[in-house]
Amino acid sequence: MDISAFVFLSSSLFLFYVVFSNAVDSITQSQSLSDSKGTNLVSKDGGFVLGFFSTGNTSNRYLGIWYNNIPVRTVVWVANRRNPIGDSSGVLMLNSSGSLVLLSQNRTVAWSADSTKEAGSPVVELLDSGNLVLREKNEENPESYLWQSFDYPSDTWLPGMKLGWDLRTGLERRLTAWKSPDDPSPGELSCGIELNNYPEIVAKCGSKKCGRTGPWNGIGFSGALGLKANQIYDYNFVSNNDEVYIIYHMIKNSAITRAVLNQTSHLYGRDIWVEADKKWITYISTPKDKCDSYNLCGAYGNCIIGESPICQCIEGFKPKSTERWNPDDWAKGCVRTTELSCEDKDKIEFVKFVGLKLPDTTYSWVNKSMNLNECRVKCLNNCSCMAYSNSDIRDGGNGCVIWYGDLIDIRQVEASGQDLYIRMPASEKVNQEDVKDKQKTKVIVVVAIAIAVVFGVPLIAYCICKRKNLREKMKNKQMIDQNIDGQNEDLELPVFSLATIAMATNKFSSNNKLGEGGFGLVYKGILADGQEIAVKRLSRNSRQGLSEFKNEVMSIAKLQHRNLVRLLGYCIEGEEKMLIYEYMPSGSLDSIIFDQMRSNILGWSMRFNIICGIARGLLYLHEDSRLRIIHRDLKASNILLDSKMNPKISDFGMARSFGGDQTEGNTNRVVGTYGYMAPEYAIDGLFSVKSDVFSFGILLLEIICGKKNRGSFHPEYSLNLVGHAWKSWKEGRTLELIDTYLKDSCILSELERCLHISFLCLQQHHEDRPNMSFVVTMLHSESSLQEPKEPGFYVGKKSPSSSKNQSSSTNEITITLLDGR
Ligand SMILES: *[C@@H]1O[C@H](CO)[C@@H](O)[C@H](O)[C@H]1NC(C)=O
Ligand SMILES: *[C@@H]1O[C@H](CO)[C@@H](O)[C@H](O)[C@H]1NC(C)=O
Ligand SMILES: *[C@@H]1O[C@H](CO)[C@@H](O)[C@H](O)[C@H]1NC(C)=O
Ligand SMILES: *[C@@H]1O[C@H](CO)[C@@H](O)[C@H](O)[C@H]1NC(C)=O
Ligand SMILES: *[C@@H]1O[C@H](CO)[C@@H](O)[C@H](O)[C@H]1NC(C)=O
Ligand SMILES: *[C@@H]1O[C@H](CO)[C@@H](O)[C@H](O)[C@H]1NC(C)=O
Repeated sequence: MDISAFVFLSSSLFLFYVVFSNAVDSITQSQSLSDSKGTNLVSKDGGFVLGFFSTGNTSNRYLGIWYNNIPVRTVVWVANRRNPIGDSSGVLMLNSSGSLVLLSQNRTVAWSADSTKEAGSPVVELLDSGNLVLREKNEENPESYLWQSFDYPSDTWLPGMKLGWDLRTGLERRLTAWKSPDDPSPGELSCGIELNNYPEIVAKCGSKKCGRTGPWNGIGFSGALGLKANQIYDYNFVSNNDEVYIIYHMIKNSAITRAVLNQTSHLYGRDIWVEADKKWITYISTPKDKCDSYNLCGAYGNCIIGESPICQCIEGFKPKSTERWNPDDWAKGCVRTTELSCEDKDKIEFVKFVGLKLPDTTYSWVNKSMNLNECRVKCLNNCSCMAYSNSDIRDGGNGCVIWYGDLIDIRQVEASGQDLYIRMPASEKVNQEDVKDKQKTKVIVVVAIAIAVVFGVPLIAYCICKRKNLREKMKNKQMIDQNIDGQNEDLELPVFSLATIAMATNKFSSNNKLGEGGFGLVYKGILADGQEIAVKRLSRNSRQGLSEFKNEVMSIAKLQHRNLVRLLGYCIEGEEKMLIYEYMPSGSLDSIIFDQMRSNILGWSMRFNIICGIARGLLYLHEDSRLRIIHRDLKASNILLDSKMNPKISDFGMARSFGGDQTEGNTNRVVGTYGYMAPEYAIDGLFSVKSDVFSFGILLLEIICGKKNRGSFHPEYSLNLVGHAWKSWKEGRTLELIDTYLKDSCILSELERCLHISFLCLQQHHEDRPNMSFVVTMLHSESSLQEPKEPGFYVGKKSPSSSKNQSSSTNEITITLLDGR
């Protein structure tokens, strides 16, 4: 991922590093810092300052360290966080026995540094790293400190600061959030390393665990995408007999970044200072989603974003609470469908699960030199061992970790997930219930046939029932599979009478008009039973015959996916042909993201959800549905939102069914909307799944930037959004592109990834563009992305009409191919 934007923006900061003429970076025994005199320590490079400050309205004074060059005072460390001084009497000094003390009125000690040794000639120095150290003046070893503030973190984790344990002294370095933005005293939220056999980072809310990263696997943590090396900083996890800690360093001193725990937002966030905007931007934050909350799904529950319910039992397990699995019951977790017999080792096997965040390691055991097979034997030989895995995933996997007791806090994580081998009764691998079900069906059918032969009893009824049952089950499992088979015979699509629809839409009143699509007007309607519907009244010039129309409607109705608008029925009477769809209460995407007043409804996480939903819907049309549909008119106004802001693609199948006489891949009527059309489609009428991918790229860009591709975006360049975005991106000015409303809510890494994917989709040659399944994969992974080639074309403004015979759904604008710039 390209993070050069930050590098670019932040590097200018370093020009501000002026040496302050009066500033000193250290004091000795004869000197002091005094609040009333306003004296400070400034690090040699001018990056940090140690001084006195107040918070909010209070007169409370604290001694702390903050960034010297950042106009928004950002405190990274507080000395007397539990014990503020009520006035400006504070003085920091080295007392006669060499201790660093903060004194207030009448020389009461407000805070002191508990150094291990008395110093002969001590000196206190604020280092460029932001570390305040106490050391012996003539100490040769530059890293031998009597005391250092990095050993006593507040809420901020700076580069070079160890988080974790010094096992020799028992010192734990742990982050603790401020109680509130105005109160630096320790809040409930804290974060540190749990010293298990297989250590992991755990966030605690009070004394309870509220989140964990999973253990270090040599590269990163299976449950924390953000904690992993990248272009700005790299991580290192150290675990030996003396120390267990995690540390990060800036690769180049290219950006100002900090990680901070926030009690108010309940987040751990990695922030980057953006000089151009004069503000901090959150690069990555945790918890990222619901599944990050500790043990949401209980023992053997697997938290899966996008599933409903979000908690699923891993295969071979069922919900412990037997009635409906309510959110309250999730934490009760899952139990085995078949009991384990412990003694008989032949009846045990270990089933491999992939892509998991490894379970809580409180009850774990590690041997770094065992291989996976030895690990398996070790686990097999102890009945309370429930799972094993490699302890280090580098070089194809090394080491052994095993888990005793119930497996807790598992989630599905596509990108960083690991393999876990879970103890199961032999042959419990496949979904036992389904197998049983099928066997039962077989037996019963055989018996029924026998009976039927003898008694002539029709068994058809039974079979139909059984089939329905199975289908219900499948529906619960995965909606995508739903129409792959077995739908042809009994798809019942209601026919509505014209009278019914006329009544529902108040006789097609203009007040009921929702919009105008490529194939006719759309009205809102309310049926007699109160159900809300959307009615698409197809333009009359379609010469399709009755049966042809019915066939097309049937094929559209078969396309069912949670990210497609559902067709409820149709109406055909005389000249009138209408399609009846489910009504989408939140309207279309364009009515929100392009509207100044409304665009703040959709924060980044919602937009990301929308992007992923559209991608899945399109993938289904392209690859998963039997029909292989090319949408050909994908655009923001064709994305509708339900009450929970889930996206649903509309108007799919229309081009194929009503778009006229195209042969595969070539059409003499271009159906689509300028600004969204791929060059080969707009100019040569060539369409393919890759022209949809292009449109998807435009859509992605519009969602990120909150601006239309078409329209006077940057008049002086006569570039449209694609052109402008490409230019900015190439020049490292990504942040200028983002919708203002997103700047606060976005997870930059995710947003930048989307932007990058968008450019991959917009490449000029369709063979360079990814297909939708690759797009979906890229959206959900962290792997590095290819460099995109220059985007297809920019739409110029105010050009004469093109010569093609076009039926675009909005006003026409010519397309000019972009010459290589
Ligand atoms: C700050 O003080 C003003 C007036 O004294 C008061 O109205 C306001 O609520 C105070 N704000 C905070 C955060 O305490
Ligand atoms: C210096 O400060 C330390 C820590 O507060 C204290 O234990 C010690 O007695 C002080 N020494 C003198 C001479 O006041
Ligand atoms: C500080 O000393 C002054 C006079 O020496 C006395 O009046 C005052 O009460 C003392 N304050 C505290 C907080 O001890
Ligand atoms: C914590 O979050 C609150 C609200 O989101 C914000 O106002 C505050 O500045 C944050 N504090 C820090 C230290 O980032
Ligand atoms: C770890 O495994 C190796 C190889 O099997 C073995 O030699 C060693 O004794 C084991 N160490 C422990 C502490 O069990
Ligand atoms: C299995 O492992 C547990 C936890 O380490 C231990 O308490 C128990 O003694 C072991 N049982 C056997 C049979 O080794």
